[in-house]
Amino acid sequence: MSVDAASIDDCLSQITQSAILEGDKPKMMIGKDMSRYLQKLIVQRGAKHILEIGTYLGYSAISFAAASKAVQVTTLEVGEMRYQRAQKWIQSSGLADQIQALCIDGLYYLKEVDVAKQFDFIFLDAQKRKSFTYVELALKRLAKGGMIVIDDVLCPGEPGHPKFKAKQEYMTDFITQMQDNPDYKTTLVPLRHGLLCIEMLADL
Ligand SMILES: C[S@@+](CC[C@H](N)C(=O)[O-])C[C@H]1O[C@@H](n2cnc3c(N)ncnc32)[C@H](O)[C@@H]1O
Repeated sequence: MSVDAASIDDCLSQITQSAILEGDKPKMMIGKDMSRYLQKLIVQRGAKHILEIGTYLGYSAISFAAASKAVQVTTLEVGEMRYQRAQKWIQSSGLADQIQALCIDGLYYLKEVDVAKQFDFIFLDAQKRKSFTYVELALKRLAKGGMIVIDDVLCPGEPGHPKFKAKQEYMTDFITQMQDNPDYKTTLVPLRHGLLCIEMLADL
């Protein structure tokens, strides 16, 4: 099925509106600019098999699928209600044939499910305080030449708010350790709340 860009934009706006109207958390979604940036990255890299951890309402999964007809997205959400809502949006996007949404814990999936399946683009957008573990497990599922992208690395939570201090310290340490790892090529993208892109140097 061919879906035009205007109807995808419309679907993404409706998802955002519904999150606002239902008093949910629209800021959790990647939003327009990051959506366009990641779509470009996906197309430039020729990524075809995408894994996303953290579906929420499906905004980013739909954006990724809209990047190219060649893309297949597997997106994981642990919350049953969010998974159900995402399924509804995925169906109405017209891109359901490109998106497999599962209601499952991301760490469990990486360790135990579809273990032979490799992905060339892995987007980590859940449980930021477990980023070291996620990267370690995601690397085992990364195809040669693939990329892992972690969202919210620069600003996980309101800047300066005591509630997020520990999380911010964790992410600062995480960024430093990834950048200092001689096996990785890392790129820190200061877009929105910050993205960290990781590639294996041996693959480049
Ligand atoms: C920041 S939101 C994802 C936003 C989405 N990627 C987007 O941009 O539209 C994070 C989501 O991860 C989900 N989540 C939290 N822990 C998870 C886990 N262990 N496995 C899968 N999803 C998880 C949360 O329920 C939440 O919906």
